Amino acid sequence: PRQFFVGGNFKMNGTIKSIKDIVNNLNQAKLDPNTEVVIAPSSLYLLLTRENLRKGIEVAAQNVYDKPNGAFTGELSVEQLKDSGITWTLIGHSERRVILQEDDSFVANKTKAAIDGGLGVILCCGESLEQREAGKTNEVVINQLKAVHSQVKDWSKIVIAYEPIWAIGTGKVATTEQAQEVHVAIREWLKTDLSAEAADNTRVIYGGSVSEKNCVELAKQDDIDGFLVGGASLKPAFVDIVNAKQ
Ligand code: 13P
Repeated sequence: PRQFFVGGNFKMNGTIKSIKDIVNNLNQAKLDPNTEVVIAPSSLYLLLTRENLRKGIEVAAQNVYDKPNGAFTGELSVEQLKDSGITWTLIGHSERRVILQEDDSFVANKTKAAIDGGLGVILCCGESLEQREAGKTNEVVINQLKAVHSQVKDWSKIVIAYEPIWAIGTGKVATTEQAQEVHVAIREWLKTDLSAEAADNTRVIYGGSVSEKNCVELAKQDDIDGFLVGGASLKPAFVDIVNAKQ
């Protein structure tokens, strides 16, 4: 069985004080030992988080660059993350794809650099409302994944986060059926283009307005292996989401 995985994406939120409060809360919380927990603060607070967070909870960057070092102002390398005890990174979040205009091939190159360097990758995919209404959801999502697969063959350290853009930060969570349907399509693609083993073992998690109120129902779906949580990961209720699997 796949280990339940819950990520907290803090996005561009937090201060030294609020991050320390979140970390202290997690350090003291009773977390389901069967759930893998990873939190992703702003890059400025990665070290602060790693130094204060208890062992057993991992820290992720929200982004990484695809080159090893050099004249790339404002970027962070895989090596620098590893040197700082950061073992995961998000890649391809829709906010980076849409606002920072990252395309599929850049996302693929960064995923390759991260995987080759030994980081775990939370690879984000998801459709816009317009694409969903045009009936293109599965096609859009699978094409995003195919772009990465053209560069990366070993998906054993990739967690796929399905995050429909219309559900992010809107309070409009996908229905359990909507989420499950896309997760099944992703798993079928894994089986066809990678292997039956990859389809069985790869975690496919859901993100988009996950809260302590809707997480238990979503977690009951066979193909929802966890969550990527935005807004609610900044609140004590994040603990309830970590413990959603019954
Ligand atoms: P919200 O949980 O705030 O909708 O954000 C989801 C998300 O984008 C996580 O990466």
